[in-house]
Amino acid sequence: MALGSNAMRVIFLLAMVVCAAHAGKPAPKEKEKGKDDKSGGAPAEAPSGSAGGSGSSDISKLGAKGDGKTDSTKALNDAWSAACGKEGAQTLMIPKGDYLAGPLNFSGPCKGSVTIQLDGNLLGTTDLSQYKGNWIEIEHVDNLVITGKGTLDGQGKQVWDNNKCAQKYDCKILPNSLVLDYVNNGTVSGITLLNAKFFHMNIFQCKDMTIKDVTVTAPGDSPNTDGIHIGDSSKVTITGTTIGVGDDCISIGPGSTGINITGVTCGPGHGISVGSLGRYKDEKDVTDINVKDCTLKKTSNGVRIKSYEDAACVVTASKLHYENIAMEDVANPIIIDMKYCPNKICTAKGDSKVTIKDVTFKNITGTSSTPEAVSLLCSDKIPCSGVTMDNIKVEYKGTNNKTMAVCNNAKGSSTGCLKELACL
Ligand SMILES: *[C@@H]1O[C@H](CO)[C@@H](O)[C@H](O)[C@H]1NC(C)=O
Ligand SMILES: *[C@@H]1O[C@H](CO)[C@@H](O)[C@H](O)[C@H]1NC(C)=O
Ligand SMILES: *[C@@H]1O[C@H](CO)[C@@H](O)[C@H](O)[C@H]1NC(C)=O
Ligand SMILES: *[C@@H]1O[C@H](CO)[C@@H](O)[C@H](O)[C@H]1NC(C)=O
Ligand SMILES: *[C@@H]1O[C@H](CO)[C@@H](O)[C@H](O)[C@H]1NC(C)=O
Repeated sequence: MALGSNAMRVIFLLAMVVCAAHAGKPAPKEKEKGKDDKSGGAPAEAPSGSAGGSGSSDISKLGAKGDGKTDSTKALNDAWSAACGKEGAQTLMIPKGDYLAGPLNFSGPCKGSVTIQLDGNLLGTTDLSQYKGNWIEIEHVDNLVITGKGTLDGQGKQVWDNNKCAQKYDCKILPNSLVLDYVNNGTVSGITLLNAKFFHMNIFQCKDMTIKDVTVTAPGDSPNTDGIHIGDSSKVTITGTTIGVGDDCISIGPGSTGINITGVTCGPGHGISVGSLGRYKDEKDVTDINVKDCTLKKTSNGVRIKSYEDAACVVTASKLHYENIAMEDVANPIIIDMKYCPNKICTAKGDSKVTIKDVTFKNITGTSSTPEAVSLLCSDKIPCSGVTMDNIKVEYKGTNNKTMAVCNNAKGSSTGCLKELACL
């Protein structure tokens, strides 16, 4: 398994290098890190708690100071090693207070199950030279819980100016805040993620994950501050979560299957997106995505599926279901964009190798801030198929134009939609 993971990282690393001539938003951080993936040795013996029972490691008893200034990195990493190194139900306690921290390496596998009880706030150091990759990185852990009313504050405001990704493809990527790699059966609940330097949460190679009652907040103009990105993961549920950021609220990347998003409010931001697809070699398919009972407020997109026209791989997105979605003043409420090209730095033409099929939009209502409430911009080479539009009633609120749908190369059917939108 460790070997498989290593091989995978190498492939991702290669894909990154091979595709470095293409354009757009960079991949999530772990796709380019190629770091040692061994996770054999158990962490150091714990100072407290008994084997087989339950116990806790409190960072304030390991030297952390909640004064917002003292570097508590070592106490946090030590507390993780202690909790992860013991059998039974272990808790890593982060009490009330503001704890300044550099990179946190919370690696497993753990002997028991670990709960991170976040009652206080962690502040990510703004000294970029301290980071090798991400800020809080949790890897190879089963049965993880992160809960509490505390905040993971990336303090991104002070470093966003260093982000040159809009100008340069191979830009230096700033640290993502909370990275979960190879985590199975995990729950993140109650916490707030604030002002990440790059993505707020990145879920990669995980299974059976629940994100519940989480708040994600960054300014609408902060660069690449995606809320939650999911890639190469299965059975991920995001529920009761409020996200307002400078990029996608949720993005569902290649290799995502069985993803359920319910009760999410998004705005500001770029919406709830599948993709982008086709940017890298060896991307895996996306299937069984359900987005239900969500609200989008003043976002640049509502529900979006995006893929590169000049794709680097053959990939399919299928069984995507959107239901009961309320749009408030959204610029592109429903959009399939198979000619996605952020910042206009991709080569325009190419054989599309991306397939988008079996997509249902049902009961989507509210207002659009542009005339085009529905845009199905599918490829002339591989048209979208099996697209169902059922009860779509999104109206342009302006007075200088009328509500319209632009549908290119899309096949399927519409029922019960506003007549201007019934383009299938
Ligand atoms: C993180 O910790 C694990 C296990 O202790 C170690 O193998 C790995 O090299 C560390 N990674 C980094 C980036 O420090
Ligand atoms: C999942 O994790 C929770 C919390 O650690 C644990 O109580 C539960 O038993 C785990 N479920 C499985 C199937 O391992
Ligand atoms: C997601 O929702 C679908 C449809 O409601 C359901 O069949 C499936 O079991 C759910 N998956 C998860 C991981 O909860
Ligand atoms: C349609 O979706 C809205 C939420 O956007 C919900 O309030 C309403 O009950 C749904 N209607 C039906 C018929 O399910
Ligand atoms: C109405 O909107 C469409 C699409 O955005 C645009 O092409 C057209 O020029 C607009 N018409 C007016 C009168 O503004």
